[in-house]
Amino acid sequence: MSHQDAINHLRNRREAVHAGGGEARIKAQHEKGKLTARERIEEFVDPGSFVEHQTYIRGRSEEFGLANKRNPGDGVVTGSAKVGGRQIWLSVQDFTVLGGSLGEMHARRIADAQEMAMKTGSPFIAINDSGGARIQEGILSLEGYGDIFRNNTLASGVIPQISVILGPCAGGAVYSPAITDFVCMVSGVSNMYITGPDVIRAVTGEEISHEDLGGADAHCSKSGVAHFNFTDEQSGFAFLRKLLGYLPSNNRELPPIAESEDPADRSTAPLLEIVPEEEKRAYDMTAVVTEVLDRDSFLEVHAQFARNIVVGFGKLAGRTVGVIANQPMHLAAVLDIDASDKAARFVRFCDAFNVPILSFVDVPGFLPGVGQEHGGIIRHGAKLLFAIAEATVPKIALIIRKAYGGAFISMSSKALGYDRVLALPIAQIAVMGAEGAANVIFRRDIKASDDPEQTRKDKVNEFKETVMDPFIAAGFGYVDDIVNPAECRAEVIRSLEIVSRKRVDRPYKKHGNIPL
Ligand code: HXC
Repeated sequence: MSHQDAINHLRNRREAVHAGGGEARIKAQHEKGKLTARERIEEFVDPGSFVEHQTYIRGRSEEFGLANKRNPGDGVVTGSAKVGGRQIWLSVQDFTVLGGSLGEMHARRIADAQEMAMKTGSPFIAINDSGGARIQEGILSLEGYGDIFRNNTLASGVIPQISVILGPCAGGAVYSPAITDFVCMVSGVSNMYITGPDVIRAVTGEEISHEDLGGADAHCSKSGVAHFNFTDEQSGFAFLRKLLGYLPSNNRELPPIAESEDPADRSTAPLLEIVPEEEKRAYDMTAVVTEVLDRDSFLEVHAQFARNIVVGFGKLAGRTVGVIANQPMHLAAVLDIDASDKAARFVRFCDAFNVPILSFVDVPGFLPGVGQEHGGIIRHGAKLLFAIAEATVPKIALIIRKAYGGAFISMSSKALGYDRVLALPIAQIAVMGAEGAANVIFRRDIKASDDPEQTRKDKVNEFKETVMDPFIAAGFGYVDDIVNPAECRAEVIRSLEIVSRKRVDRPYKKHGNIPL
């Protein structure tokens, strides 16, 4: 073959690969409001930075009765690219080719890209749009999923892994995203479920739409399977680019440091307005968080799920921190099953990737109730205690108002390894609230009094002054400093600086046994 013929052949093969499933299927993809795999890559990564890997992979179509179907890449595109100048690896399923279904070579291609991401210490982004296991390929498809799940597990805590669901993701296919660190969905486009509405109707008789069962809203607000919900693919990609800017590329690196124009000593006097003096009045903790962090740097994670706790990334003097914050606007900020799960998982991500933890504390305790007890609040609450105790990254707590009971321990105790505990002068630290405590320990005095109501009030005040006052905890060394609300930002930044070189060893173990 002449050079020219070979080059023409190459051009034809490249064009065939780039044409995916062909014009009709691309049109059908667009009609569903979805981009094609290659359009998605273009939208997401730095212009011109994508380098395709294993470009000419093809499945054993003939053996599986698929010889007459277009099959470039076996239904998936993989490779490496840059996002904000930093290298990532990615796999993007191509629904226009065999419905993006996962066959033998499709799986091998994704698994290879995952391994390249691990070898090169790069974040891995998986874009899912697939009919699931390729039915014709049976066992090869199932084992292929197994390879991907194993790689997801091996990569967990080594490189950040983000799954973006941009179409169907059904059956066992959901478990790859579920193992990764963050799951993103688009309303009206993404679906995740173990079995779809038809199977559910046949098995349980329940009627539900695809969207209500496994859409973005269901998973971001009810199940907690997904972390981010977007209205369209483009805004999802823009957000992902931002998210990556907070994360290190792997567990051996520190998160990137951003330029910060926000002065470290900026007054946080607005906290005096945001946090009510009345201890029972609710307020929005995200307003406190955004006031303390660098301006416009807070990026909330899992915002619609378990809203009684707020988690997310932020910057402090340009450095990434992971925030966990009780939210008095929802369920009076109690910790319940979902809030414990949400915060524990976030803390473990931060710990794995060298992101210091900053907790904002205003918590009356764990949620009482039969439903919570029988749902396993003991087991779930223990996850948060475990996650905090095992985390070796710098941990700083700022007690805003209430810090009661076991919830105090998980959010702000020296015993679990918080390195710096700061408190506002109005903070209250105790086993329980003053009213409840007075009713237990002063019950006899109140009963015997001529004016029980007045005695109860006096005892409550006495308890606040003699037990809850933050200077009492500070006197025992469990609070490092009581800070003026106007100086919170400066004090937290100083605290972060002095603990940033923290190094701690742990006893040898294969791994712990977090109460799952
Ligand atoms: C083989 C598949 C396929 C699959 C879709 N296709 N899913 N081929 N295996 N799993 C093919 C279709 O036959 C069709 O090919 C093309 O892809 C496009 O699919 P359509 O059905 O035309 O698209 P649409 O109408 O948009 O419907 C999308 C869909 C539907 C809802 C995803 O295709 C569907 O229900 N597919 C089956 C889903 C499923 O049950 N998967 C298995 C889940 S169990 P032609 O050439 O005819 O147009 C599983 C177990 C994994 O995944 C276990 C791992 C541990």
